[in-house]
Amino acid sequence: MNFLSQFLVLLIFFECFPSVEPATLGITTDKEALLSFMSSLSYDPHNPLSTWTQTTSPCNWTGVICDKMGSRVMGLDLSGLQLSGPISRYIGNLSFLQSLNLQNNRFIGPIPQEITKLFRLRVLNMSSNQIEGVLPPNISQWKELETLDMMENRITGKLPEELSKLTRLKVLKLGKNHFYGEIPLSLANVSSLTTLNFGTNTLGGVIPSEFGRLRNLTELDITINNITGTIPPPIYNLTSLVNLAVASNNLWGEIPYDVGEKLPNLLIFNFCFNKFTGRIPGSLHNLTRIRVIRMADNFLEGNVPPGLGNLPFLQMYNIGFNRIVSSGDDGLSFITSLTNSSWLSFLAIGGNQLEGQIPESIGNLSKVLSKLSMAGNRIYGDIPVSIGHLTSLTLLNLRSNLISGEIPAQIGELKELQMLGLAKNIISGAIPKSLGNLRKLNSVDLSGNSLLGFIPSSFGEFQSLLSMDLSNNKLNGSIPKECLNLPSLSIVLNLSNNFLSGPLPGEIGSLENIVTIDLSNNLLSSQIPNSIKGCISLEKLLLANNRFFGPIPLELAEIRGLETLDLSSNQLTGSIPGDLQNLLALKYLNLSFNNLEGVVPRDGVFRDSSNVHLEGNKKLCQDLTCLNNGSDAQGKRVAKIVLVTVVPAILIL
Ligand SMILES: *[C@@H]1O[C@H](CO)[C@@H](O)[C@H](O)[C@H]1NC(C)=O
Ligand SMILES: *[C@@H]1O[C@H](CO)[C@@H](O)[C@H](O)[C@H]1NC(C)=O
Ligand SMILES: *[C@@H]1O[C@H](CO)[C@@H](O)[C@H](O)[C@H]1NC(C)=O
Ligand SMILES: *[C@@H]1O[C@H](CO)[C@@H](O)[C@H](O)[C@H]1NC(C)=O
Ligand SMILES: *[C@@H]1O[C@H](CO)[C@@H](O)[C@H](O)[C@H]1NC(C)=O
Ligand SMILES: *[C@@H]1O[C@H](CO)[C@@H](O)[C@H](O)[C@H]1NC(C)=O
Ligand SMILES: *[C@@H]1O[C@H](CO)[C@@H](O)[C@H](O)[C@H]1NC(C)=O
Ligand SMILES: *[C@@H]1O[C@H](CO)[C@@H](O)[C@H](O)[C@H]1NC(C)=O
Ligand SMILES: *[C@@H]1O[C@H](CO)[C@@H](O)[C@H](O)[C@H]1NC(C)=O
Ligand SMILES: *[C@@H]1O[C@H](CO)[C@@H](O)[C@H](O)[C@H]1NC(C)=O
Ligand SMILES: *[C@@H]1O[C@H](CO)[C@@H](O)[C@H](O)[C@H]1NC(C)=O
Ligand SMILES: *[C@@H]1O[C@H](CO)[C@@H](O)[C@H](O)[C@H]1NC(C)=O
Repeated sequence: MNFLSQFLVLLIFFECFPSVEPATLGITTDKEALLSFMSSLSYDPHNPLSTWTQTTSPCNWTGVICDKMGSRVMGLDLSGLQLSGPISRYIGNLSFLQSLNLQNNRFIGPIPQEITKLFRLRVLNMSSNQIEGVLPPNISQWKELETLDMMENRITGKLPEELSKLTRLKVLKLGKNHFYGEIPLSLANVSSLTTLNFGTNTLGGVIPSEFGRLRNLTELDITINNITGTIPPPIYNLTSLVNLAVASNNLWGEIPYDVGEKLPNLLIFNFCFNKFTGRIPGSLHNLTRIRVIRMADNFLEGNVPPGLGNLPFLQMYNIGFNRIVSSGDDGLSFITSLTNSSWLSFLAIGGNQLEGQIPESIGNLSKVLSKLSMAGNRIYGDIPVSIGHLTSLTLLNLRSNLISGEIPAQIGELKELQMLGLAKNIISGAIPKSLGNLRKLNSVDLSGNSLLGFIPSSFGEFQSLLSMDLSNNKLNGSIPKECLNLPSLSIVLNLSNNFLSGPLPGEIGSLENIVTIDLSNNLLSSQIPNSIKGCISLEKLLLANNRFFGPIPLELAEIRGLETLDLSSNQLTGSIPGDLQNLLALKYLNLSFNNLEGVVPRDGVFRDSSNVHLEGNKKLCQDLTCLNNGSDAQGKRVAKIVLVTVVPAILIL
């Protein structure tokens, strides 16, 4: 062997075993490092790393990957093992490590600086932990790094310029952390990049136009930051882009109408919550593989462009809260085109100026349609009965339109429905009993229509209702006691401005989680039930403009959180319960226009007369002297009337 071949053999040897230490010593170092790493962790309930023992080789341990010879640890995959605790500095001793997967655990605290010693790392995934602090210094030592995923932690600081020295980096995901500052321009030099995700941080500045050089970029996600300016035109030259998501920033400018031609590989287009102008780019409707089109909450104008009938994989179409127009009965015919999108699960067109009738074909939308919002437009005509076919709907919001006709009983077939919003239309007829079948309903809002007849007692069947608003209709009859037996009701019960009569059932007291009850402006006539004290979470009780009689129940003073109490314009008698003074939260009290008598308490809410309304109670007195003296003329007249009317009544008895 000549010198050169000896040298080559040596070189090959060192290539395979670049460490100066013998292989056995190497694996011992790794073993000690792993055991030290483990010793700083805690587990619950059992130790998922129970195979990590002194007596076995680390190459046989859970999550440890060695080279073929078992001489060094090359990879560590502890993802999703429910590990918690800090990441030990000893991690830096695993000097042959190429991949480190710690994602989906509960690692806490800072990333140890020693980690940058792992210069062979190709993959580093720490996403979904509770890691804090900043990125370690000297990360440019990770010359081989291809994947850096730190999504969903609590890492802060500016994005380091140093990232641009990672010349093999393909995937950079730092979203859902607390990074601030600007996106480093220098990243435009990392031409290997395919994925950039900086979403949900507090980054400012602009999108560098130099990013147009990242020819291999497939994903650019900067959603939920504070990035300003326009989308630089070179970005629209990145033909490889599959996912372009810039929602919830401060971006403006026109979206090019031909964006779909420029970016033919797009599957996800998310431009929501910005200040974009111009039209809905019709070319997006030409992308037959697209899955997500979202541009809600911008200033887009014009019609919905044609072409929606050709998007078989579309899952989400959201153009809500723009200035999109349509006119004539067929103004919503694009909905018919969407019946070809059999994966459509989210359709939102609310908050625009869309005019037209809901097409009967709405019932032919995808079987997986889960959310449908068309609120806040100029939609008129009936709700098609075919809507009952959309059996996956969890949200149906048609509020604030000009919809007439009756509520189709078929809505009761939407068994998954959680939110039903039909408020502020001109819907008439009775409320269908079938709505009681909607066992999963959280919120029902039928307010501001012309609904007639009774509240169906089937409303007592709701299992998880949080809020019910039937106000501002023409409902009559009494309040069914069943529909007060809804302990889940916790936000609001609003039946105000109807023609409800009869008593307020004592079952009202079972609403122990409710915050607001508004029954004002009805024809309710009974005493206010003592059981009201069962509503222990109540903050607002509005019973004004009814025919309630009898005393103000003393039990009201047991509702410690009560802030607003309006019993005005009823026929309540007796004195004001002194205990109302003890309600420290009470900020507004209206007892005006009743027949209350006696002395007005002085403490608590009564101290500030601007918060208390008592007018129209002729027999009320501000202090004891006025009671005894009967000094004012009005007082005498009241006394006389009492004498004249009460005395004969007693005689008759
Ligand atoms: C791993 O465990 C198996 C048996 O479970 C054993 O045969 C093998 O020698 C062990 N390998 C190492 C490197 O310890
Ligand atoms: C292992 O890491 C610890 C902590 O960083 C360090 O003190 C120690 O010198 C390292 N041991 C070896 C053999 O590299
Ligand atoms: C990192 O782990 C998360 C959680 O398992 C996974 O969703 C993500 O795709 C991984 N990152 C990369 C770049 O593979
Ligand atoms: C970063 O690297 C430089 C040069 O290799 C070195 O001098 C410095 O100590 C390192 N800093 C840290 C914090 O590791
Ligand atoms: C990008 O790389 C070029 C050439 O290597 C260099 O001149 C330039 O300064 C780099 N740009 C940034 C922003 O780092
Ligand atoms: C871009 O992607 C192509 C195809 O995957 C690959 O051949 C090329 O090396 C990549 N470019 C860079 C700069 O990484
Ligand atoms: C967003 O950026 C603007 C300047 O572009 C700045 O005035 C504003 O304070 C920033 N908002 C937040 C929440 O950082
Ligand atoms: C887009 O790319 C084309 C050719 O690839 C080039 O002519 C054009 O100038 C580029 N446009 C922008 C805005 O970078
Ligand atoms: C959609 O594609 C067709 C056929 O390629 C083309 O004629 C039309 O102009 C495209 N529409 C838009 C809005 O890009
Ligand atoms: C649905 O797709 C078929 C085939 O591409 C097409 O002929 C039809 O017009 C589309 N339907 C609608 C409502 O656009
Ligand atoms: C809905 O689909 C059914 C079956 O495909 C069809 O018969 C019916 O005409 C469609 N209705 C509308 C209004 O498009
Ligand atoms: C309720 O209203 C309906 C229709 O307006 C009427 O027929 C009915 O008599 C009313 N019932 C009560 C109890 O007022």
